Amino acid sequence: MARASVKYVCQSCGTVHSKWAGQCSDCGAWNALSEESNQTAGPPSKSVGAGGKGRRVELSSLSANEPPPVRVQSGIGEFDRVLGDGLVPGSAILVGGDPGIGKSTLLLQAAAAIARTGAKTIYVSGEEARAQIRLRAARLGVSDSEVLLAAETSLRDILTTLDAEKPGLVIIDSIQTMWSDTIESAPGSVSQVRACALELTNFAKRRGVSVILVGHVTKEGQIAGPRVVEHMVDTVLYCEGERGHQFRILRAVKNRFGPADEIGVFEMTGTGMKEVSNPSALFLGDRDERAPGSVVFAGIEGTRPVLVEFQALVAQSALGTSRRAVVGWDSGRLAMVLAVLEARCGLQLGAFDVYLNVAGGLRISEPAADLAVAAALISSYTNNPVPARTVVFGEISLSGAIRPVAQSGARLREAQKLGFDTVFAPPRGEGKDGKAADAVHIEEFDELRNLVERFDPEAA
Ligand code: TYD
Ligand code: MG
Repeated sequence: MARASVKYVCQSCGTVHSKWAGQCSDCGAWNALSEESNQTAGPPSKSVGAGGKGRRVELSSLSANEPPPVRVQSGIGEFDRVLGDGLVPGSAILVGGDPGIGKSTLLLQAAAAIARTGAKTIYVSGEEARAQIRLRAARLGVSDSEVLLAAETSLRDILTTLDAEKPGLVIIDSIQTMWSDTIESAPGSVSQVRACALELTNFAKRRGVSVILVGHVTKEGQIAGPRVVEHMVDTVLYCEGERGHQFRILRAVKNRFGPADEIGVFEMTGTGMKEVSNPSALFLGDRDERAPGSVVFAGIEGTRPVLVEFQALVAQSALGTSRRAVVGWDSGRLAMVLAVLEARCGLQLGAFDVYLNVAGGLRISEPAADLAVAAALISSYTNNPVPARTVVFGEISLSGAIRPVAQSGARLREAQKLGFDTVFAPPRGEGKDGKAADAVHIEEFDELRNLVERFDPEAA
C-alpha cells in the first residue's frame, strides 16, 4: 500500500508544496495554500511501490496499422483550420481568453454547426442561464440547430448525464465554474480546475468524446486556472483580440493533432463571429500608404501567409528619458533592432520616443518581422514613406546583416495576390523559393545600413 500523502497546492499559482506555509514561496500569495490528498488528482496510486504486484502492460510496435482519425468538420473554416482540419474524436481542447472576448459566442456557433453534421452535441454552461443562451442562439441565428443545453456546475451530475447521453461533442463553459465534490476548495481554485479538467479529459479519452473546455484568463496574467490545464489537454487554443477592434484571432498554442501556431481569423459582428478567410485584406483595410512609419510585413502565421501593417512613430522626447512602447510585438526584439540601428547604422535614437504598433490587434512573434520593424522606424525617423505597394520581410542579426527567412515564396505570392509589386527582402540564395513570383520586383538588402541609405542617402 502506498502512503496516503498530502500536499499543499497554492491556489493562486498552482505550485505544489510539501509543507504548509502562510505564504507561497513561489508567487508570494498569502493564505493561498490548501491541502490536497494525492488520491484526488493524478492517477490512482493503489498498486504502486517496490515489490508491489503490478500488471504487465502491453507493449507494441510503432508501426501499428491504425487509420488516421476521422475528423469532424464544423464547416466554420477558420475554426476547423486552427484545430488542424477539424475535431479529432476523443480529444480534449482548452479554449482560453479574456472574459468578453467571444469564447462563448464562437463555441455556441461551433456547437450549432457541429450538431448540424449529425453529431450529438451538448453545451454545458455554468455561467449563464438557459434563457440567456437561447437568446444568444437566436441572435446568432442558430436556434434551429439541435444542440442540447444544460446549465449546471456539478461535475458529478454532468458526467452522469454524459455517460447516459453518449454525445460526440461536449462544451464546458467554463472550467472555472465547475466543481467536483472530491475536492474541498471553491470552484475556480487551482485544485478544482485541475481535478475537473482531469476528470473531463479522462472522460474524453475513455468514451471517444471530444471535450472543449472554456477557460477565462484574467488581464493581470493571473492565469493559474487554465494554465494548470494546458498539459492535460491535447489542444490549447487562445482567443486574442484588442477591445475596440473587431478582429478576433484564435491561435493554436499547442496541438497534438495539427500544427501549432496556426491562427483562425474572425470578425466580431452584431450576429456573432464571422470568419475572415482573407485576413491580409482585412488587416490592411484602412491603411494610409503615404504615412511615414507605416510598413507592410509579409508574415507567416501557422501555415499561411498573412500581410500586416507595422506602424512606428519616432519622435523627439519631451522628457529626459525616452519612452519605448510596443503593441503586438516583442519589446526585447524592438530594443535589439534599435540597438543595431544605433550601433551599426549610426542612427542617434537615444533622444527619441519610439512607439511601435501592429495594426488590427494581431500579435507577431516571427523574427522575420525585424526588417519590417526597422523599415518602419527608419521611415518615421527620416519622415520618408516606404514606396507604395511594398512589403518587407527579413531577419536582422546583431552584426547588422540581413538574414534570409523561411517560406519567402509564400510571402511573395501573398504580396502579389494583394496587389503589392515591390519587396524589400534579404538576398536570395539558390533556394527554389524565390522564383515563384516573377512579377514582383525584389530589392535585396544584405546589410541594414543599405536600408537606411535607401530612405535617406545622407543619413548613412
Ligand atoms: P462572449 O462570447 O460572451 O465572451 P466570453 O465567453 O469570451 O466571455 O462575448 C461577449 C461579447 O461579445 C459581448 O461584449 C457582446 C459581444 N457580442 C457581439 O458583439 N456580437 C454577438 O453576436 C454576440 C453574441 C456577442
Ligand atoms: Mg462566456
